[in-house]
Amino acid sequence: MIYAAVLAGGIGSRMGADKPKQFLEFGDRPVIVHTVERFMECDEIDRVIVMTPAEWCDYTRNLLVQYFCSASVGTGEEMHEGAGSGSEEGGRITVAVGGQTRNETLMNAISVIEADGNLDDETIIVTHDAVRPFVTERMIRENIAAARETGACETAFPATDTIIETDDNKYVATVPDRSRLWMVQTPQTFRAKKLRELYMSLTEEEKEVLTDAARIYVMKDEPVEIVRGESWNIKITYPQDIKIAEAIEEQRCKG
Ligand code: CTP
Repeated sequence: MIYAAVLAGGIGSRMGADKPKQFLEFGDRPVIVHTVERFMECDEIDRVIVMTPAEWCDYTRNLLVQYFCSASVGTGEEMHEGAGSGSEEGGRITVAVGGQTRNETLMNAISVIEADGNLDDETIIVTHDAVRPFVTERMIRENIAAARETGACETAFPATDTIIETDDNKYVATVPDRSRLWMVQTPQTFRAKKLRELYMSLTEEEKEVLTDAARIYVMKDEPVEIVRGESWNIKITYPQDIKIAEAIEEQRCKG
């Protein structure tokens, strides 16, 4: 089985809007709907798990029913009760509760797969930020292929700006060679069972320094393949990013 985990468990504090940024609109629909649509369009994805803050679960479910009614949208709780998520298709979308951190949200998504009875050595989880709506089918397919081959991969794009390192936020400590630096995007894709095993083996201190799941593999000397991203596979973080997303969407629609 191949699952997509759309991570929407954050509250978007840097956006400063009246709701989490994944629910803001551009191109006449909410960010999260654009993102879920990209995964629904890919026939290699068996199920899409959408992880949201507990208080936004019903809202998310209603929103997704509105846009993807034929696909059936269920909740993780229903799956835990063994009732499936309610359609002849078995419910291709499941909405479940995220965690305190992005990695905890990811672990909750793996628990949904387990409750679904599908967590085995072959199960692949394509993890993706809900606020990166410009992921493409090419990236998703290459992620799945790389995870099958290597066990783990992440999408990245060569650094376009020179990047500096500082120890004190005042003076430049080093200027790493830009030709070796790539900027990390998502999707990041893993064999789900192994990802959980590696995460469980970390100490609390190690968990604290984790910025993303692929780093778990690097910490444990496990290989992570790189899938090439795109400069426009942006993460919506600040208010101006919604305007940038509008412009990218306009170009995307022109084709
Ligand atoms: N995310 C998540 N669970 C968390 C925290 C973050 O699923 N506990 C998700 C976000 O919803 C987002 C992605 O991880 O889709 C990338 O995180 P980020 O851009 O930092 O989102 P927020 O945490 O929402 O934003 P901020 O840091 O500004 O509060």
